Amino acid sequence: MSCIEVGWFDKLAAGPRSLASLAQDADLEVAAARRLARAAASLELLELRADAGVALGSLGAALVGDPGITAMARHHEMLYADMAKPLALLRGERDHTALGEFWGYATSDAPDQLAAARVAAYSRLMAASQPMIAEQVLAAYDFSKHRHLLDVGGGTGAFVGAVRARYPDLEYTVFDLPGVVAGIDATSDAAPNVAPGSFRSDPLPRGADLISLVRIVHDHDDDVVLGLLRRVREALPDHGTLVIAEPMAGIAGAEPIGDAYFGFYLLAMGSGRARTRDEIDGLLKQCGFGPSRWHATPIPMICSVISTCPI
Ligand SMILES: C[S@@+](CC[C@H](N)C(=O)[O-])C[C@H]1O[C@@H](n2cnc3c(N)ncnc32)[C@H](O)[C@@H]1O
Repeated sequence: MSCIEVGWFDKLAAGPRSLASLAQDADLEVAAARRLARAAASLELLELRADAGVALGSLGAALVGDPGITAMARHHEMLYADMAKPLALLRGERDHTALGEFWGYATSDAPDQLAAARVAAYSRLMAASQPMIAEQVLAAYDFSKHRHLLDVGGGTGAFVGAVRARYPDLEYTVFDLPGVVAGIDATSDAAPNVAPGSFRSDPLPRGADLISLVRIVHDHDDDVVLGLLRRVREALPDHGTLVIAEPMAGIAGAEPIGDAYFGFYLLAMGSGRARTRDEIDGLLKQCGFGPSRWHATPIPMICSVISTCPI
């Protein structure tokens, strides 16, 4: 996060620099800049050259030009603050957290009342980080057999925008909180249909043969998810399909994301948990859906994809 704040990755994208010039740009003593550079090099973010120059490391290079990773890293300032006392989180002793404040819907009894200004920061973060999610979903799922996609909790439309770029002939609708969909530019030719509402209290619009829940289920406790899945079932025709895409727990090789990272992130946020596929299947079954089908993604650490149909 410090390297991002002082802009080192962007500066080094043009080529290696001396530690002294990086120190000066960052307003750091050379010794402090060396400490930061060595720490970053140990994480493969930077590379220290024999001539005392500093270059991008392999992971630093991946960060350059991806505003999504940068935005996610920056927002972790809130997670670090909340994680100062993890046991206090586990014991339920924190009645206010930075992440709970940021994700207003996680702690609000009436999320549909959240003003546009209150949801703008998380909506920007979601739009910035959505390309890496859409890339996984598009690699895993074939949308061509569908006619109309309703993206529930679709934010300001970044996911449907990415799907539309690949499948221009589908119809697209985004359902999200009123304060969030207010951020969609409805005048653009590529704008989706927009449906404001709360899936905790409102029915979902009908007419789509495919409904997607992208980074939604893990945000909520079981009672909210059950209510949401029942609304999805009501809105879907019998031949319809539900796609769920999010980081899941118990994925071979990606266990730390589900259990360590999201385990504590969502605890700090105030609701939800990363679930295993079996746990999601259990909730789906209670709401009239059959067992899920697995759609392998290239990087399951970022996102897993399952689909299911009404039974
Ligand atoms: C983690 S974000 C994911 C956004 C988007 N699907 C994506 O992956 O970029 C969760 C989204 O769910 C929406 N949301 C939360 N509670 C909601 C509710 N009760 N009704 C409708 N949308 C809700 C939020 O406003 C937010 O846009």
